[in-house]
Amino acid sequence: MTATTTAIEHAARILNEGGLVALPTETVYGLGADAESAQAVAKIYAAKQRPANHPLIVHVAPEADLSYWTRDIPQEARKLIEAFWPGPLTLILPKNPAIDDAVTGGQDSIGLRCPSHPVAMALIRAFARLRESGQAGIAAPSANRFGHVSPTRAQHVRDEFPQECANGMPVLEGGDTEIGIESTIVDVSRIAQGVPVVLLRPGHISATQLEQVLGYPPARPDGAVPRASGTLKAHYAPQTRLSLFDASDLKGLLASRPQQERWAVYAFEAQPNGLPAQIQWHQVPSDPVRYAHDLYALLRDADQQHFDHLLIQRLPGDVAWDAISDRLQRAAAAFE
Ligand code: TXA
Ligand code: MG
Repeated sequence: MTATTTAIEHAARILNEGGLVALPTETVYGLGADAESAQAVAKIYAAKQRPANHPLIVHVAPEADLSYWTRDIPQEARKLIEAFWPGPLTLILPKNPAIDDAVTGGQDSIGLRCPSHPVAMALIRAFARLRESGQAGIAAPSANRFGHVSPTRAQHVRDEFPQECANGMPVLEGGDTEIGIESTIVDVSRIAQGVPVVLLRPGHISATQLEQVLGYPPARPDGAVPRASGTLKAHYAPQTRLSLFDASDLKGLLASRPQQERWAVYAFEAQPNGLPAQIQWHQVPSDPVRYAHDLYALLRDADQQHFDHLLIQRLPGDVAWDAISDRLQRAAAAFE
């Protein structure tokens, strides 16, 4: 289940003509456009119904000339690139002024990521071959409508963008995404001004792994950093009403269910005996890597089955769960 070379080359031509293409990455599927074209980037904002001042991540190939996109690559960024690219790490760097402001939402920094998914890499390379400069960047947010759950399968993208697909937007097949949650975002754009490395969005690459490479822990956002939609309080939300529960509260919660309501419960424990038929129980993985892999598809399942309420057990407090806790809390905040 992976896109053919012909499909990839067709998609590259569409990018080069200013059109939209959905592509798999190792984190989630992206909705891609030529990062250097303001008109192409505008199509992403329109399709996603996303505010145009929210900057997009530019996806580049491992051999990309980073000076084409940035003014300066601090030593810290070089170390992180060496350790984690290609892979699920986005770096916010000082932008090369020659790059159009549309992709950065007017900010003078640029988010760069080198994805490891073979289809994403092949697409960027095929696109670069069509460019005179030999450089190509695909601006790609997650391929979901603003505020929704990110897609981890090609079918999720088709569900989110039926109109665009009917109008010929290619959705490159890449199977279930391996990681399942969005990349870790690290801001290294203001180191020259004395601002430390900031972890803007937790992800599969943890704060601990970043610290191992940097030699010190990254700082947390202080509010002065540019706004990132993935960092809004309510985001990543399913349509189904969602709440988080502690194991000790579950009995009482289940007892409070109005009789006609159908509930889904995602818990670490196995299904207890004697559950009413209106409650669907799903035992979630106890390992954070597998949990992240499954999470978004599970949220979409609850929507598709039209449950009245989705109850998800709160996650363990240790750092290995940070990125997933972040997503779940934002998803639940949409219903508070
Ligand atoms: O895993 C991912 O990162 C996926 C795949 C498709 O690569 N992409 C993704 O994009 O999650 P998106 O747009 O849903 O989230 C990107 C986040 C946004 O919250 C955006 O505001 C932030 O990155 N961002 C991008 N460029 C930035 C910049 N120059 N300064 C601050 N934040 C930036
Ligand atoms: Mg997103």
